[in-house]
Amino acid sequence: MRERVPLHRLTSLRVGGEARYFASPSSPEEGAALLSWAEREGLSPFVLGAGTNVIFPDSGYGGLVITTRFLTGIRLSGSRIIASAGEPLSRIAWHACRAGLSGLEWAYGIPGTAGGAVAMNAGTREGDIAGVLVEVEAVSPSGRIRLAPSDLELGYRESALLDRRIPLIVTSVTFELARSSPERTIGLARRLLDERREKLPSGPSAGCAFKNPSEGPPAGELLDRAGCKGMRVGDVFVSSLHANFVINEGERNASEVLELMERMRRRVEERFRVLLEPEIIICE
Ligand code: EPU
Repeated sequence: MRERVPLHRLTSLRVGGEARYFASPSSPEEGAALLSWAEREGLSPFVLGAGTNVIFPDSGYGGLVITTRFLTGIRLSGSRIIASAGEPLSRIAWHACRAGLSGLEWAYGIPGTAGGAVAMNAGTREGDIAGVLVEVEAVSPSGRIRLAPSDLELGYRESALLDRRIPLIVTSVTFELARSSPERTIGLARRLLDERREKLPSGPSAGCAFKNPSEGPPAGELLDRAGCKGMRVGDVFVSSLHANFVINEGERNASEVLELMERMRRRVEERFRVLLEPEIIICE
């Protein structure tokens, strides 16, 4: 455990002040011990994967940030793939494809860890975590637990794991896949990645900033039609390739990111009377 750890190096947007406490468990038991310590100290734990969908404010995080990046390991068992929470989702997808197991091709090239992907129910138009997840192992302050997908209430970019009042660290996830051939799975994964690369911007971002509304046009289209492309606050701007992507040229400037997102949201609200909901988790 360390104190006063800068968080901007641990998020893809490169923003955030310091974590008051920061820990990197290398086993589920260590994770449980950390949660139990936080509970005794009255500190809120925040479980961080690859930091690809989070913003910590410039003032930092006053509780305990627990990173899962040292929980690693991937193994195959029949048509299942079992991965520790800190494994990159894309690496898991690649392992599956190489073994000729189908169901995670969409995830090849998607940033983030297995644990984060489950918490967010990561997905694209071609598939999502809910479609392949069969079991989750986690720890609570009192030790190991097993969860079924139905316990997680997976929805569009949401799950019960995002409710930070429930102190849980996902430690391992199991996906059930379908037997196919490596030629097919690798071919499809590469094609989907190429298609996304053409449509989605590169540069430091957290992917899509806002969720698509449950009905009507997608957020990207609304933001585009409201004239958001190119909007800028300091070092942060809206991509000219995709209006739902906020790119950061600076670092440690969370207030600029949040201000830009607020302006984007206001524009869409004024123009279309639609209130966009952020997809990026704001960890205050
Ligand atoms: N559009 C515009 N202008 C833009 C951007 C998009 O008019 O600047 C239009 C597109 O032409 C298209 C529609 O909006 O008709 C939807 O855009 P796109 O196909 O790019 O998909 P999206 O709904 O914006 C979703 C996910 C992405 C995922 C892609 C591909 C959300 C919020 N976004 O994007 O996920 O990669 O589909 O499957 O659900 C993420 O969650 O961080 C993310 C990037």
